[in-house]
Amino acid sequence: MVSMKMTPAIMERKSASGAAETELLVADAGSAYLIETDEMMVEVVKLDASLRFTDKSGRILARNPMMAWNEYKSAIALFRASENVHYYGLGEKTGYLDKRGERYEMWNSDNYAPHVPEIEALYQSIPFLIVNEPESACGIFLDNPGRSVFDMRTSGQAFTIQAETGGLDYYFIPGPQIKDVVKKYTALTGRIQLPPQWSIGYHQSRYSYMDQEEVLEMARTFREKEIPCDVIHLDIHYMDGYRVFTFDPVRFPDPKGMIAELKKLGIRIVPIIDPGVKLDPEYGVYQEGTASELFCMKPDGSPFVGPVWPGPSVFPDFSDAKAREWWGDLHRFFTEMGIEGIWNDMNEPSVFNENKTIDPDALHKNNGNPVTHGEIHNLYGMLMSKATAEGMTRNLDGRRPFVLSRAGYAGIQRYAAVWTGDNRSFWEHMALAMPMVLNLGLSGVSFSGPDIGGFGHHTTGELLARWTQMGALFPFCRNHSMLETVRQEPWSFGPEIEDICREYIRLRYSLMPLLYSVFREAAETGMPIIRPLLLEYPEDPNVANLCDQFLLGDQLLAAPVYRPDTFHRVVYLPEGNWFDYRTGEKLEGGRHVMAHAPLDTLPLYVKEGAIISRTAAAESTIFERSTELFLDIYTPENGEGAFDLYDDDGTTFDYKDKAYNLYRLRVEGAEGTVRLGVHPEWTGYDGGWKKWTVTFKHLQLAGCCLEYGKEAANREELEALTEGWHFDSDAGELTVVLNQPLEDVELVVKAR
Ligand code: GLC
Repeated sequence: MVSMKMTPAIMERKSASGAAETELLVADAGSAYLIETDEMMVEVVKLDASLRFTDKSGRILARNPMMAWNEYKSAIALFRASENVHYYGLGEKTGYLDKRGERYEMWNSDNYAPHVPEIEALYQSIPFLIVNEPESACGIFLDNPGRSVFDMRTSGQAFTIQAETGGLDYYFIPGPQIKDVVKKYTALTGRIQLPPQWSIGYHQSRYSYMDQEEVLEMARTFREKEIPCDVIHLDIHYMDGYRVFTFDPVRFPDPKGMIAELKKLGIRIVPIIDPGVKLDPEYGVYQEGTASELFCMKPDGSPFVGPVWPGPSVFPDFSDAKAREWWGDLHRFFTEMGIEGIWNDMNEPSVFNENKTIDPDALHKNNGNPVTHGEIHNLYGMLMSKATAEGMTRNLDGRRPFVLSRAGYAGIQRYAAVWTGDNRSFWEHMALAMPMVLNLGLSGVSFSGPDIGGFGHHTTGELLARWTQMGALFPFCRNHSMLETVRQEPWSFGPEIEDICREYIRLRYSLMPLLYSVFREAAETGMPIIRPLLLEYPEDPNVANLCDQFLLGDQLLAAPVYRPDTFHRVVYLPEGNWFDYRTGEKLEGGRHVMAHAPLDTLPLYVKEGAIISRTAAAESTIFERSTELFLDIYTPENGEGAFDLYDDDGTTFDYKDKAYNLYRLRVEGAEGTVRLGVHPEWTGYDGGWKKWTVTFKHLQLAGCCLEYGKEAANREELEALTEGWHFDSDAGELTVVLNQPLEDVELVVKAR
């Protein structure tokens, strides 16, 4: 709580609820009311209710000079913008990173061909806009789950936000940096839960793997081919006549046996669950939901019925806590079989009728405050995932569930990961997955990714190879494809493509310590897992709309090739020095470079000062983890770098009771001396790494020494030591083996 100067005109003091306790001072200044927080001032002009937001120095952050309502009670707010404004966020939208000149609708929709630039509404609606003005950034979150429109096209030096139903209930979020806006927005709407580590592995899917034998065969093939994989998804054909919470008795006669067999292979099952419950008086789920009145109703009190995969179906009323609890508990059917993850699809909800969804005048009970479907349409999918995540958690004996959702609203990140729906095997769709997932990340939804290889249409070996290279570094990594398209498992196009897919999926698994640490950062601070360069280099004009390359955390820069027959591409390296991950070549940043990228190469760069944590790539995160950690230091000649390395058991919620390890790593290089500090901030998990192999790469020294353990004559001798080091002058690499348990350590490399 910040104490504030008292002014004579103070009328009221209010404590705004929110992430941080903030004191508001409200004053009557004659022509306007002034609302002051510890960060900014809002001026509300009495004459026309226009709003002005300024920072403490009086600098204008935003102006909302007009609000209006039409006769149908649709409301609109207009905000002034400068000529040099850039817009980001808005969740899952097509187009580029910068949303200047675009118009989007928020109305969760299942479109047949959704990933084209003129589509204004997709499966997710995150009504959160980041406005980046040259001097400072701010965010506007419209908390309205009905239909709304963000228009950055029509009003010249202004943008408008319009709500069809409900009010213009918006939050103004000051920066000054985009990072501050994202942090505050996610403090308000929530951050990802640390997911089970297996869900960060590779997922394989197909609409559909048709029977138990095919699923088992798929798993065995992954193991024979030594391609890492943690998850196989079951699409709608596993069910008995598309009835949710059933297995087809002929195609899947022994799901429990299948799941047990798969577990031995290190693979888990994630079955699809749609919200539509088949209207079948003989079917238990329908009977229970009907008897307890848990389905959405029409205004005349009869259940809303709409066709989806099972034919005429009814839809649980997830706005009501009672229905959510019932639905959550139905998942015991799965948890009792050993299933720990659920895939929520069609939850916009998509209905095969004229409205393409539940009728807008249908009713939701909403815990005793009835609302129409139109007023809360965009909440439906998120509330389904909330019910699912909570039900699974209740039934998993302390293990973390994984939920994947197609639809969502602001806050979906608390319950589910998100995939971007039905893209197609087009190069263009691979390219647009980058800005889409980057903007999802800026909108709080950091655990997301597209169907790798493309869902509809037919992929090619080349497209699959390139898409897998990119997808291997995305937060959510799943290959999924549609009925009757060519097969696109990693081995479907012969050995060359298979090798490329294997190599990059392995890269993902070897970077698991880094990836998991970045997931933890997202869970703690809301920072996206993959980031547009803009987030880390906000002053650089070259990156305002750069979205064909991205950062994983803040240390690795990937620049995928997303065109056919293309083996070179331009890469922008921001300020500082960078190293080519593959060749080790040092490149000066602040300029464009030409990357040579034959089909087996993803252009990937490491920032000078980076501390990259790796492990031996396992074929599944379930298999016993390697106890050896590798830390590659991209030694800064004159500079520094830092990384927070996090670890826990990867499956339970014990980390909430402090069963985790957090190491603050820091490297500094100056005048021929390099220092690496490893500071165990917290060590509450004893299953962590027992052997640490640290390599100082790119040392510009003819000779050097280290005061730690014994000096080994060569690599082989070093392997045998519990503590010691070796300098390979040809490679310019000093390798140290550290012994556990790791106390505060400082390694100082000195020239000699
Ligand atoms: C929807 C989903 C897709 C799934 C299909 C069948 O189109 O987006 O991923 O495979 O339904 O369930």
